[in-house]
Amino acid sequence: MKIEQIFTSCLAEMAYYIESNGEAVIIDPLRETAPYTERADNDNAKIKYIFLTHFHADFVSGHVDLAKKTGATIVYGPGATAEYELYNGSHGEIFNVGDITLEMLHTPGHTMESSSLLLRDENGKEQCLFSGDALFIGDVGRPDLAIKQGELTEEDLAKHLFNTLRNVIMPLPDDIIVYPNHGAGSACGKNMSKETYDTLGHQKEVNYALRADMTEDEFVKEVLTGLVAPPQYFPKNAGMNKGINMEIDDVVARGTKELSVDEFKSLVADGALILDTRHQTEFVKAHIPGSIFIGLAGGFAPWVGALIEDINQKIVLVTDFGKEEEAVTRLSRIGYDNSLGILPNAITAWSETGNKLASIDQVTPEELANLSGVNILDVRKESEYYSERVIDAINQPLDTINKTIAEMDKDKTYYVHCAGGYRSVIFNSIAKANGIHNLIDVAGGFGAMKNVPAFNMSEYACPTTML
Ligand SMILES: [Fe+2]
Repeated sequence: MKIEQIFTSCLAEMAYYIESNGEAVIIDPLRETAPYTERADNDNAKIKYIFLTHFHADFVSGHVDLAKKTGATIVYGPGATAEYELYNGSHGEIFNVGDITLEMLHTPGHTMESSSLLLRDENGKEQCLFSGDALFIGDVGRPDLAIKQGELTEEDLAKHLFNTLRNVIMPLPDDIIVYPNHGAGSACGKNMSKETYDTLGHQKEVNYALRADMTEDEFVKEVLTGLVAPPQYFPKNAGMNKGINMEIDDVVARGTKELSVDEFKSLVADGALILDTRHQTEFVKAHIPGSIFIGLAGGFAPWVGALIEDINQKIVLVTDFGKEEEAVTRLSRIGYDNSLGILPNAITAWSETGNKLASIDQVTPEELANLSGVNILDVRKESEYYSERVIDAINQPLDTINKTIAEMDKDKTYYVHCAGGYRSVIFNSIAKANGIHNLIDVAGGFGAMKNVPAFNMSEYACPTTML
């Protein structure tokens, strides 16, 4: 028996590959199919089932493509319906995989069709639970994403989740390992641990949602407190997971097409957005005017989903050499399938054909500390700002940039920082593309500013909303 947790840090997502005696299953695959088919090929195994623990909202799965390529059956929990063929498992149903079994447990709460899978080894012993978003390490799946107007409230779902945890999951043996679908950084929960698995027994000791003496009312209140609004792409991805989408191979083939400068320009003239995925240090030095920076070396997919509102937006790409397919694939993982090509060797190609490049001015923290009366914008999250900040910095979190831009004074100069220099360059690129040019990026962000004694730092901040 082989159990492999496949962690994707950008989305804090865990898919699973399980193999036993020539048969394999995949649980919660991402959009691409190669990582799973290659594993099965290496083991000379046939993928028999593709389990989806629920209709995911934070990524688009490639289960339909994977089923087409492998002949595997797509399995969901009770009540799931979609545009493609699927098999609805029932609570307690046993799925044989080589010499092991997976028992489906219906675990509603995060969504109504949510299911978990209990793996028993060759000797029939319970080994682990693939808990989807029903139970995370340190948290549980948020019950507010799958509400249905007039039918199902977040309180209803939270009560289902309470019942699931108490009556389905907590009675399982303490020594089984819990393998969830997400880890820290995912917006599917609010307080996940960095660990990607744990024993159920230990979770009963440390996970607030599994507290032994908790009442249903207490649970509902705690699980619904402190939830922030989900990213705008979540309902769109949940919808795509119920439909049949463009095949990933076609998305990648079109998205990695090499364009000439003229072709690139004409697509931009036709409404395509230039997305630059290189490192921020390269973007700051030189980029194609009007391009948006969201680097692959960061939370790429969630930032694309948060900041590019139209999921069907036409996109042309500037990437590092060798990163073309990765960029297109990572876009398609959250349903941005409309990549139309790349400009190879973009910066050189652009300038050699007589086109102007743009850059972003930067200041070191030391230089900024010596300036007085300047406007400092801190684009980190509110929680980061409130824990520690530079006095006089105004907090405008990156995910509220559209509102911020509308309020900015084009004649003022703003010094923009985040924690380490990734989000501030995203902010600067979007503001510049919207005609705001008096922006100076603070190199190294708050991490570097903290080392400059001349800054007046506060550990506790009061909310500041004016700009
Ligand atoms: Fe989820």
